[in-house]
Amino acid sequence: MNQSTSRLSVVATGVLILAPSGLLAAPTPPPPGAEIELWVRGEGKPTDGDAPRERSQHVDLDKLPLVDMVRFDAQYGRAHPYRGVALSAVLSRLGPAASLDLAILHFANGMAVPLPFRDAETMSRLDPFIARGMGVEAKDPIQVGAFPSIPKQDARADARPIAFTGNKIVVADKWHPALSDKVQAAFSPWTHTDSLVSIEFAESKPYYRQFDVGADAKVQRGLALFQQSCQFCHGARQTGARFGWDFVEPMPMYTYRKAQMNLFYHVAYKPLDAAERGLMMPAMRFMTEDDAAAVWQWLRAVATKPMPAYTTKTGGKGTAQPPGKAAAPTPPGPPAKAAALMQPTQPTQPLKPAAMTPPKP
Ligand code: HEC
Repeated sequence: MNQSTSRLSVVATGVLILAPSGLLAAPTPPPPGAEIELWVRGEGKPTDGDAPRERSQHVDLDKLPLVDMVRFDAQYGRAHPYRGVALSAVLSRLGPAASLDLAILHFANGMAVPLPFRDAETMSRLDPFIARGMGVEAKDPIQVGAFPSIPKQDARADARPIAFTGNKIVVADKWHPALSDKVQAAFSPWTHTDSLVSIEFAESKPYYRQFDVGADAKVQRGLALFQQSCQFCHGARQTGARFGWDFVEPMPMYTYRKAQMNLFYHVAYKPLDAAERGLMMPAMRFMTEDDAAAVWQWLRAVATKPMPAYTTKTGGKGTAQPPGKAAAPTPPGPPAKAAALMQPTQPTQPLKPAAMTPPKP
């Protein structure tokens, strides 16, 4: 046997060995955007950029009973036929403990939009829906996984339009409960979101306490402004959103935007060629110089002081608080009407596979 035939036989044996294992290949993964992770934030600090998870489960949207309906979409600014599922139905699949009152929607671009999902007013005003498909015109058939990109309005050429991969959040209103009345008209996180990748459940008090790094009045005002205007896109020390730069790592933003005025110009204006350069941060013209100065004070505090770790009264695992820790005052329970809004329902019954509603005639 010469060298080339022996090499050939080695290749042939390899093929023979590999062929049967190909038949045992794992079932094909769900198409992009069909699967969403539901998880409960665990106690402690993030490691390698990932928050600790106390619980996690994956949901294949295509295995849920999807419905077809014509809905107004605040992001596209008009109505379209959509196929999908109410967000509240997906949230209840995890059966969140009564203490969890925040559902943080994490998007593929790194945005994190918190929803106080037990607040009936918020949920009815936004009526959030996860779409898996849409029809562009009213009479069009629904195309699964296809959502047109959204270029920036004022741009001649947009290097980075908002593009979707397989799903889209549809909300009925641009409004968000974290925004002050003044800001509602000028800014909406919903106009910047792309596709949903995961939903984090947390207790809002300890979640927001993580960003609370100083009692000074200006720092507190900066923190409030962060929650109103920046938290959807920015985080600090790997906690929170990661669409824009982290405010502390690797570079503390208070040193990058040294002077407070400098931060004001960055926040309130944007370069005329921002879209062409692929810059994604919107101009926030509602920010005053004084607002920006307060945000800068908070940026400095969060970069120079340790952030409190996320801790819950139940220790994240439903266990009692270990002895030795200072007894925390008992927070008031959730309002009865909000608690009634979302009864935790355990997914006891397996769902019918591919229960997709056929398009209505
Ligand atoms: C809709 C998302 C979004 C919001 C809201 C947002 N940012 Fe940004 N920000 C970004 C993105 C994305 C970048 C990275 C550069 C870019 O693409 O524009 C960025 C960059 C930055 C930078 C670093 C770049 C530079 O030139 O200084 C700072 C500082 C900053 N943002 C501060 C803020 C502050 C303060 C707020 C709140 C008042 C805020 N951002 C709100 C998305 C956002």
